[in-house]
Amino acid sequence: MTTQPRIMHMGAFVLGAGHHIAGWRLPGAQAGAENFELLKHIAQTAERGKFDLFFLADALNTSPTMHPSMVVRLEPLTLLSALAMCTKNIGLAATASTTYSHPYNLARMISSLDHLSNGRAAWNIVAGAFPAAAANFGLKEHPEHSERYRIAGEFVEVMKGLWDSWEDGAVPMNAATGQFVDASKMHTLDHHGAHFDVKGPLNISRSPQGYPVLIQAGASEIGRDLAASTAEIVFAVLQDLQTAQDFATDMRGRVKKFGRDVGHMKIMPGVCPIVGESEADARAKLARLGEMSDAATALRVLSERLGHDLDQFDLDAPLPPLPPSGMMQGHAVTLTKLAAEKNLTLRELRDFTSAAMGHRLLLGTPEQIADGLEEWFAAGAADGYNLMPPYFPGAFDDFVDHVVPVLQKRGLMRTEYVGTTLRDHLGLPRPAHPAATAAAAAVAH
Ligand SMILES: Cc1cc2nc3c(=O)[nH]c(=O)nc-3n(C[C@H](O)[C@H](O)[C@H](O)COP(=O)(O)O)c2cc1C
Repeated sequence: MTTQPRIMHMGAFVLGAGHHIAGWRLPGAQAGAENFELLKHIAQTAERGKFDLFFLADALNTSPTMHPSMVVRLEPLTLLSALAMCTKNIGLAATASTTYSHPYNLARMISSLDHLSNGRAAWNIVAGAFPAAAANFGLKEHPEHSERYRIAGEFVEVMKGLWDSWEDGAVPMNAATGQFVDASKMHTLDHHGAHFDVKGPLNISRSPQGYPVLIQAGASEIGRDLAASTAEIVFAVLQDLQTAQDFATDMRGRVKKFGRDVGHMKIMPGVCPIVGESEADARAKLARLGEMSDAATALRVLSERLGHDLDQFDLDAPLPPLPPSGMMQGHAVTLTKLAAEKNLTLRELRDFTSAAMGHRLLLGTPEQIADGLEEWFAAGAADGYNLMPPYFPGAFDDFVDHVVPVLQKRGLMRTEYVGTTLRDHLGLPRPAHPAATAAAAAVAH
């Protein structure tokens, strides 16, 4: 592991049609979460900007009124395996569900990506924010919010146990001695829990990073505990500096509570940058996108974030009081607070959310955007950002061509990759195999 001065960690949150619901309609924009040439361009642009990771969200259901980037898309791990072949340094982060996957299959797939990419894989652990997925997996209903998190907690434990099936060097393939595998370095998990029974071992050797980098975005009470006990990157939806600082303080306190090193958890809130020649120019771009937005899709995106169907409510009235969301509690809390603080009508909240699904918006010149990013970073409220360009490729190219050089000049972003693995980029240790740790402890005594 290489020690690094504190630098801003950057993720490119890639939704094929951009994050603004109308981004794909802008002249010059390209779209398609199945458009490999576009996705390859974005991954290579992120690498040119010395980003830490390229991130793909996912859901296991669809509908024509969903956000355009989510209606049809390539399966993340399959796509990232292809992108691993046309990139060299950029981390490759896939979302995969703990509610609708099986740990044995998923552990194999993510470890395969880590092998194929020479140590650049990451896993965004989601319990699943979209209830409609249940019908695709033979379930009458989507498990309840805290039950989903209990399943997720056990799921992560099983994944780590499977990734520990083999110690380093367990498959010597020594033709001279004829020893292909060293069975003394193989470990059978034999897990029996409330939700999973998994014997193991996994049929893939220990990957370059040991474990892929673990990501989580829980913001509810139980979600924050899962993130604090497991995640090395925490994504978040945060609108103002004070709330972001409170979130960071709370999360770092929880990390300590779980006996972890706070330096091993990077908080990366989402941010949607709209770069302009001037602030007015950037605002004009946002207004143009607003004019091209489909009202039904915009209201659907807000309904998903708040966890309630909003069709029946008056758009020109304030957001009515709503019961807590059973879907994404963190998003609902952030957006409800924003609407109250800014006295927004439902229509205004809808239009705001259609830009970046409720995440922070930063508009202006490259310097102004760099200032906005530096402010939270310098205050310790963020260790980096999950960048959400409103449209591709132009808005992301603008960020890499105009904002990254400003951040690099200020010494806030790397100008060259130091290591080769995603853990190197993030300054995270490679998890030692428990057997190796035990052996080292025995020697020490
Ligand atoms: C940046 C970001 C990306 C996310 N990606 C996904 C995703 O791909 N699929 C999904 O089902 N949920 C996704 N989520 C939702 C979270 O996993 C989680 O459900 C949400 O943050 C609410 O958690 P809470 O109910 O604990 O507050 C994402 C959240 C954030 C902030």
